Amino acid sequence: MKNFTSAKDIDDLPLLLDLAKEVKRNPFGYKKTGENKTIGLLFFNPSLRTRLSTQKAAHNLGMHCMVMNLNNEGWSIELEDGAIMNHTSQEHIKDAAGVVSQYCDILAIRTFASLQDRHADYSEKVLSRFMKYVTVPVVSLESATLHPLQSFADLITIEEKKVTAKPRVVLSWAPHPRALPQAVANSFVQWMKMADVELCITNPIGFDLSPEFAAGVPVIHEQDLALEGADFVYAKNWSSYENYGTIGTDHADWMITSEKMKRTPLAKFMHCLPVRRNVEIADEVLDSDASLILTQAQNRTFAAQAVLLNLLRNA
Ligand code: CP
Repeated sequence: MKNFTSAKDIDDLPLLLDLAKEVKRNPFGYKKTGENKTIGLLFFNPSLRTRLSTQKAAHNLGMHCMVMNLNNEGWSIELEDGAIMNHTSQEHIKDAAGVVSQYCDILAIRTFASLQDRHADYSEKVLSRFMKYVTVPVVSLESATLHPLQSFADLITIEEKKVTAKPRVVLSWAPHPRALPQAVANSFVQWMKMADVELCITNPIGFDLSPEFAAGVPVIHEQDLALEGADFVYAKNWSSYENYGTIGTDHADWMITSEKMKRTPLAKFMHCLPVRRNVEIADEVLDSDASLILTQAQNRTFAAQAVLLNLLRNA
């Protein structure tokens, strides 16, 4: 693996899963691999889990870790090649990416979707410009369309908790007061397609995911029907792909409640967090014995650690 920005970057998923299981069993067993190596974590957007779990993963590997919030600590970045920079942007991404490559052995970046311009978001405008000029391996900490470290942790969690060989996994849209990117949902679908699961998506009409990711996956627009027989219910909000970046106004009844979970009484519940309690998901579900939200968060460290270890070994 040269970079980690999508499931498509992975050479051998079963091998990467085995590596994650191994570092979870023995987190400090590879401290020598990262000795005298530095990772830079660059954030254009807020984070709790991704920032802390990736830092912890790096520390477990003996790496030095530098973190910077580019939006409020760095210069304002120009993305366009050939730009005449006589307005607000202060530093070209060519220079910024080249410079940070001098300080780091691996660079990781978080850059969310704008939700204003679908073409720019789905062409990964910021990440791709950054990757054009970086000279070291790149890890996505969530990009405009994908969140592979989250999805890897989700897959580890499903592998740990499944009780049937090929579990039925239902990705359900959930309500949210603000427009959110489609990245977690796209990414979850991308990874589940590579896993041994039966996947279905349920969302209101007008909220189908991009065919680039969801093609071939059954979509059921009746949530109650979709939930029946699920082994895992993964809930997440996303704004509309079709009417790009818009949110629904009358879908409060899509909140996951314990009544809904009764349709599939043996199912485990998953959410990547952060979650709007009692809007997206009822407290009673998040705090139930079926909830895996903290296991997912715990596995973020081991997903990141396996990815960093793989990149260090291939450097
Ligand atoms: N799930 C996730 O990526 O959380 P953060 O946005 O807090 O990093």
